[in-house]
Amino acid sequence: MDLNAAQQKVNELRDLLNQYGHEYYVLDKPTVPDAEYDRLMRELMDLEEKFPELKSADSPTVRIGGTVLDMFEKVVHEIPLLSLGNAFNEQDLRDFDRRIRQVVGEDYSYVCELKIDGLAVSLRYENGLFVQGSTRGDGTIGEDITSNLRTIKSLPLRLRENVSIEVRGEAFMPKRSFEALNKVKEERGEEPFANPRNAAAGSLRQLDPKIAATRNLDVFLYGIGDVGESGVVSHSEGLDYLDHLGFKTNKERRKCANVDAVIEFVNSWVERRPNLPYEIDGIVIKVDSLAQQSDLGTTAKSPRWAIAFKFPAEEVVTTLLAIELNVGRTGVVTPTAVLAPVKVAGSTVQRASLHNEDLIREKDIKIGDKVVVKKAGDIIPEVVNVIAEQRTGEEVDFQMPTHCPECESELVRLEGEVALRCINPKCPAQIREGLIHFVSRDAMNIEGLGEKVISQLFSEKLIKDVADIYKLTSEQLLGLERMGEKSVSNLITAIEASKSNSLEKLLFGLGIRHVGAKAAKTLAQVFGTMDKLAEATEDELKSINEIGDKMADSIAAFFTKEEAQELLKELVIAGVNMEYKGPMPISVEQSDSFFAGKTVVLTGKLERLTRGEAKDRIESLGGNVAGSVSKKTDLVIAGEDAGSKLTKAEQLGIEVWDEDKLLEELEK
Ligand code: IVH
Repeated sequence: MDLNAAQQKVNELRDLLNQYGHEYYVLDKPTVPDAEYDRLMRELMDLEEKFPELKSADSPTVRIGGTVLDMFEKVVHEIPLLSLGNAFNEQDLRDFDRRIRQVVGEDYSYVCELKIDGLAVSLRYENGLFVQGSTRGDGTIGEDITSNLRTIKSLPLRLRENVSIEVRGEAFMPKRSFEALNKVKEERGEEPFANPRNAAAGSLRQLDPKIAATRNLDVFLYGIGDVGESGVVSHSEGLDYLDHLGFKTNKERRKCANVDAVIEFVNSWVERRPNLPYEIDGIVIKVDSLAQQSDLGTTAKSPRWAIAFKFPAEEVVTTLLAIELNVGRTGVVTPTAVLAPVKVAGSTVQRASLHNEDLIREKDIKIGDKVVVKKAGDIIPEVVNVIAEQRTGEEVDFQMPTHCPECESELVRLEGEVALRCINPKCPAQIREGLIHFVSRDAMNIEGLGEKVISQLFSEKLIKDVADIYKLTSEQLLGLERMGEKSVSNLITAIEASKSNSLEKLLFGLGIRHVGAKAAKTLAQVFGTMDKLAEATEDELKSINEIGDKMADSIAAFFTKEEAQELLKELVIAGVNMEYKGPMPISVEQSDSFFAGKTVVLTGKLERLTRGEAKDRIESLGGNVAGSVSKKTDLVIAGEDAGSKLTKAEQLGIEVWDEDKLLEELEK
């Protein structure tokens, strides 16, 4: 066969396979036997092997998984992927509906959809060709998982029209695939996945796409980034358009004329949910008209035109086997219930925090009790109550210890606190937890240095304080369990990169009592450098709006401690940055203003202020007034006839105020 003939055959095979694949995986209506599909696929693979120049990104053969990656690249979402506000009961839904009516009047309708419990993804197509797929990440920056997404058979590699479009949806693992995967994992002696969501996320985070290819993942699309010239004017039309382009959308959607119809739909799924072949964690309710969606706008995180109804948490009964004690970073000793493993809301639960001794007394919890367990917000396991009627008399009262379970020093109950604390600053548990806090996401964000690695490094005495992290060598790390060359080299790079973090991350990471991430940011903005902060008097600190007396005391006390001074010196020697790198330092006086450190854009005609006045007043309060809207904008003030800047702000999910709201805040 010559190249021309091969090209023709390859095209034919691809068209056929794409058609059969679409019928099977998207429409769920196969038209040919599996054996026929497999035979055509083998023929195509053979041809592509013989004529490698004919390989292409939209060939169905790419679904078996391509090259192994070193790492996932970051992807910036031009239009952020927002999250949703929650409703937990009928009243919340009626309140949502009232807010909608206040803005759009009485002429509107909703679309209700299943809330698929998987991983949010964004897919980009150029001229009909799938070019990039990414995770949601923090909504603005995600990870490029194109090669893994390509392996999902219901995901079209080429659309039925040559459009350029970005679409959003949920990748997930069907229940049956999840059960089969866990069975294999258990047979191999591997840790099973806790639930289908983790299994889907874990599969899509594999650097080797061949693994994702074996995981039977699936994807439902539910949104379009920018409808552009498509002519789509409502969400329901958008979903039909997605169908038309060849995407898989969920058919269990319903248009509802009012909130009563919404509530009926929601209730019907509480019963039917277990029968679905995939997991859902709620129902999403969206205002249908795109024009009305745009009138309603968004808050910083979520649209005002949509809400997620979360199903009531499932409750199960299990036995409380023991109560364990954990010592936290600040020395607080927390009792934790050890439970007979039980499946609840999609995963197996074995532990639940009991918070403190008072709560154990209040709920009258005894060791050996039968207890009701649920997951609060479907995530955090919680003991709801004891079933006292089922007691046998063998149950044992719990006694809170008098001494630290880790270092054996005497525990104290500080005035006004319910918690018991270990106040030994050398307590190994506190030091270990402090190290875990230092590397965590909101602090120095050192990827690859999780709880397990830190615990190992600490127990092997390779690190005793945070400065030691910067002295770690590849040889030391290679000696740890489950650490290969690649992960060690990534870890060393991540440690190195953390040295250039802006001051607030370090400040938060140091774990100064009462200083949370937000206060750390304000302190960094006001003082600019660690030295200036260290020199600040308590009064200076207290004059900052967000810094209360307790925090000011604790900051001042921290910097007078000799060990703290030594530690900071060591960090400087290691090359750790001690300066604020954010966009704008602010003064102490400005620090209590809403505008401090925020980037504001003015657009449209203001009535009571001139643009110049508005700018001066915002700047005098520590704000920064910019000319154009971008991802860095925090707030847009829209006057009359606001145009493209307002549209862009809405697309980017940036908070928008009118002039009244601006004046109100300026007067404060
Ligand atoms: S709409 C701006 N629809 O739920 C609207 N989200 O917090 C944003 N999800 O992880 C989302 N099914 O991926 C929407 N039918 C559905 C959904 C859905 C699942 C996920 C979404 C995100 C979370 C929203």
